Amino acid sequence: MGGRFLKLQNNVRSKVELSPFFAKHYETILNIVSFGAYIPFTKNVIEKAPFEKGDSVLDLGSGSGHFACLIAQKANPRRYVGIDISKEMLKIAKERCKNLKNIEFVPGKIQENLPFDSEFDKVFISFVLHGFVQEERLKIIRNAYKSLKPGGKFIILDYAEKNVDKSPFPVKFLIRKAECPLAEEFMKRNLKEMIRREGFSKFEEIFFFKGYVRLEIATKGYYESSF
Ligand SMILES: C[S@@+](CC[C@H](N)C(=O)[O-])C[C@H]1O[C@@H](n2cnc3c(N)ncnc32)[C@H](O)[C@@H]1O
Repeated sequence: MGGRFLKLQNNVRSKVELSPFFAKHYETILNIVSFGAYIPFTKNVIEKAPFEKGDSVLDLGSGSGHFACLIAQKANPRRYVGIDISKEMLKIAKERCKNLKNIEFVPGKIQENLPFDSEFDKVFISFVLHGFVQEERLKIIRNAYKSLKPGGKFIILDYAEKNVDKSPFPVKFLIRKAECPLAEEFMKRNLKEMIRREGFSKFEEIFFFKGYVRLEIATKGYYESSF
């Protein structure tokens, strides 16, 4: 979230890399532009998301650690690994979560090979996937699949499928002028189909902001009996 508020760097392909200023004030800026709706929204998301006591959680593009704190309060994870490309974000997240147990933040590119194999109960990715070209989105989804235990859940928070042409002016403005250039392209895609093709099943969706934002929950290696 926030792509065109940022100074994008020329040598990178992800469009959700934030400038140091934006990184430092990420939640505050989003809370201001959403007229105070952003923080309550994030709390509502984590209340509804299926994080459970003692989970191990991998957070792809963990940002400022805001969600890590909310998830820690709810589920007291036995292990929480946040990966982010931004030094600034990692610094903020480490500082914010310094009193929480079992949480680490590590530098990395989530579209590259990650060193995890069937070891997390949950993989969480919030407002990150839309900012990559499709080929890299698929690499990220494959990384999530590989990192999850069988039966583990992939929890994606991002824009939902919507026709921006038919949306009201404030939405058009947000997506076309303030958001990252790949957000609208992402909103034309069928996310559920995308992750189904990579092996996920048992889908659940929860919508926010008049259906523009969706929490998609999918399971690794769950097969419904045909009997
Ligand atoms: C829009 S912010 C979302 C942060 C957090 N997930 C949240 O919802 O509060 C996008 C985050 O993705 C990180 N990011 C961008 N490209 C990345 C990459 N290739 N690998 C890892 N993190 C990346 C950015 O540094 C930033 O923290």
